[in-house]
Amino acid sequence: MKNFQRYLITAALPYANGPVHIGHLAGVYIPADIYSRYLRLKKEDVIFVCGSDEHGVPITIRAQKEGKTPQEIVDKYHSIIKNSFAEFGINFDIYSRTTNSVHYETASNFFKTIFEKNGFIEKTTENFFDEERQQFLADRYIIGTCPRCGNEKAYGDQCEKCGTSLAPSELLNPHSALSGKPPILKSTKHWYLPLDKFENFLKKWILEEHQEWKPNVYGQCKSWIDSGLQPRAVSRDLNWGVPLPIEEGKGKVLYVWFDAPIGYISATKELTEDWEKYWKSEDTKLVHFIGKDNIVFHCIIFPIMLKMEGSYILPENVPANEFLNLEGEKISTSQNWAVWLHEYLEDFPQKQDVLRYVLTANAPETKDNDFTWKDFQARNNSELVAVLGNFVNRAVVLTHKYFEGKVPQYDSFSDYDKEVLTSFSQIKKNVEENIENFHFREALKEAMNLARIGNKYLADTEPWKIVKTDFLRVQTILYISLQICGNLSLLFEPFLPFTAAKLRKMLNSNEINWENIGKENLLPVNHQIETAELLFAQIEDKEIEKQIEKLHFAKQQRLQQTASQVKSAKQNISYDDFQKIDIRVATVLKAEKVAKTKKLLQLTLDTGIDTRIVVSGIAESYSPEQLIGKQVVILVNLEPREIKGITSQGMILTAEGQNGELCLLSPEKLFMNGAEIK
Ligand code: MF3
Ligand code: ZN
Repeated sequence: MKNFQRYLITAALPYANGPVHIGHLAGVYIPADIYSRYLRLKKEDVIFVCGSDEHGVPITIRAQKEGKTPQEIVDKYHSIIKNSFAEFGINFDIYSRTTNSVHYETASNFFKTIFEKNGFIEKTTENFFDEERQQFLADRYIIGTCPRCGNEKAYGDQCEKCGTSLAPSELLNPHSALSGKPPILKSTKHWYLPLDKFENFLKKWILEEHQEWKPNVYGQCKSWIDSGLQPRAVSRDLNWGVPLPIEEGKGKVLYVWFDAPIGYISATKELTEDWEKYWKSEDTKLVHFIGKDNIVFHCIIFPIMLKMEGSYILPENVPANEFLNLEGEKISTSQNWAVWLHEYLEDFPQKQDVLRYVLTANAPETKDNDFTWKDFQARNNSELVAVLGNFVNRAVVLTHKYFEGKVPQYDSFSDYDKEVLTSFSQIKKNVEENIENFHFREALKEAMNLARIGNKYLADTEPWKIVKTDFLRVQTILYISLQICGNLSLLFEPFLPFTAAKLRKMLNSNEINWENIGKENLLPVNHQIETAELLFAQIEDKEIEKQIEKLHFAKQQRLQQTASQVKSAKQNISYDDFQKIDIRVATVLKAEKVAKTKKLLQLTLDTGIDTRIVVSGIAESYSPEQLIGKQVVILVNLEPREIKGITSQGMILTAEGQNGELCLLSPEKLFMNGAEIK
C-alpha cells in the first residue's frame, strides 16, 4: 500500500436550506470526525474541510416560500448548521461556504480552464420558459399532472405522491410554479461534461484499482459505468449561483453540482496558503465522506472534472454511508420527521456524546439503519452509564477512598493482571484497523471492550472486600484500573471527545497521543488525580416518551403548514359577477354511493327552495352515514349536468387539502335551509 505524507479529509457540504439532523451526523459528519480526530491523535498532517452548499434550486424555492432572498436563506441556515456542528464537536479545520468570493473565483477559474482546453460539449436545446417572468424554469419550477397517478401537483423532476421520477416534458398540463401560466419552449445553449469519454478511465481507476472501496460504493459505481454514461450539462439558466465566466454564458450559472465539490478546494485555500500541497501532491491521501445519494458526484463526476482540469489529485477513497431511518420511517425534512441537532441539545444539554455514541454504534455503514429513542435510552443506560461510566467512577472513587487520590504503587502482577495489561495494545491495534478501514461501529465496540474488561476486572477482584486483609493487592488492582482509565481517555477521544476530555481532567492528564495507548505507567505511581465526576447519567422513560410525542406532534404541525401552502389568487371578478352566484344552506336528506364509482355520492338535499339531487365527488372523504342530516353549502344555480346517468342539480362546496382530501363546509350553527350566502 502507498505511504501517504498527509491527509485531506472532506465531508459533504450540506445544503444551506435547512438545519441538520441525526441522519446527517450518522451518515457523514461523525465518521469523518472520528477519522480526522484519530489521525490528529496519531500526529499525522491532516486537514478536515467542509462548508455550506449555498447554491441550487432547493435554496431558491425555500427563499420563495419564505418570502426572502436566497442570500438571506443561506445566511440563516449557514449559521445554524455551523453552530450545530461546533456543538457536537465536529472538529473541522474550516467550515466555509460556497457564496464567498474565494469560492466564486476558484469555481470560475476551474470552469474556464476546462473551457479553454475545449473540454466541454456545447448543445442547444429547447427548455421550458416562463414568458411572464422572462425566465427559464428549472424542473422543480414546473408543476403539472403526473402521467402515472394523476396527481395534479407533480413536479417536473418528480411526483411526490407516487414517487416516480419524471422529466418536465412528461407532465400533463404543465404550468409554471412562478406565474401559474403554461410555459413555452425556448432554445438555450448549455455546456456539457463528456462523461462518456471517460469510461475507460473510470473502469481502470475504480473497477480495477479501487476494489477496496466499500461494496455499496463500488457497486453503485460499477452499475453507473456499466449502464453507460451520458454527457451532463454543467450550466443552468438560473440567477442564483456562480455566473458562467464566459461571454456566451451571460445570465447563466454553474450547475450546483459543478460548483459545490470545488468548494472543498476553495475551503482549503481559505484555510491555508499551503493549500496546493494538499490538493496537488500525489502523496496526499484525499478522502471524501458522503451519504449514498452523493456517490455518483464524488466517484464519477467530480473525479472527471479534476482530471479534465488536470492539476489536482483524485480521491483515494469515498466511504459513503447508507441512510439512517427514524422510528422505522424515512427521515424527511419536508414532513418534519427528523431529530434536529439544535433541538436535541435543548432537551439533552451536555449530552452530545450520548448521541455521538448511539449514532456510531448504530451507524448505517453497510445498510440503512433505524434510530429509535428506545435504543438511544438503552444504549445510554446499559452501555455508557453501566459500563464505561460505572467503571471509571468506581476506579476514581476508590483511589480517593484508599489512596488520597494518588496512583498507588503496585506489587507483583498476577496472570489476570498481565492479561489486562496486554489487552491494551491488542485493543489499540483492533481500533486502528477498523478506523483505517472505515468500520467505525466495530472500532467503537473494540474501544468499549476495554471498559467492559475494566468493569469485569473490578467485579472479579473486588478490592473493597479485601482492603482490610490484603492492602498490597488492592494497590495493584487500583493501579491497573487507573491504567485502564488512562487508556480509555485516549481510545475514546475520536468517538466521544467531550467524555474523553472530562476523563482527562479527572485523571489530571493532558496526554493526547495515540501512540501512548498501552504505554507502561501511562499514569505514573504517585500521580495525583482529581475527584470523581459522573461521565453519564440515566435517561428516564418519560424523557424518551416526550421525544416520541414531540416527533409525532412536529409531523402533524408540518402537515398543517404544507396544507396551507396555497395557490395564488385567481384574477379579480366584478361584484356583478359575484352576484350571479347563488349559494345556499341545505340539509342532506339521503346519501348513497353511485354504483361502479369510487368517488361519487348521490345526495338528496333540502335546499329550502326545493328538494333536489346532487352528485358529489366526496365519497373518498365521507361515508353516506356521516352525511345524513348534515347541513352543507350548495351552489344552486349551476347548469344541471348529467353524471353517470344521474342529473346533478348544483354543486356541494368543499375545501380541498394538499393531497386531494375534501372537507365539507357547514354553517357554524344549525341554520335555515335556503339561507343565502353572500
Ligand atoms: N449539498 C449536497 C447534499 O447535501 C452535497 C454536496 S457535496 C459537494 O447532498 F461535494 F458537492 F460539496
Ligand atoms: Zn404520481
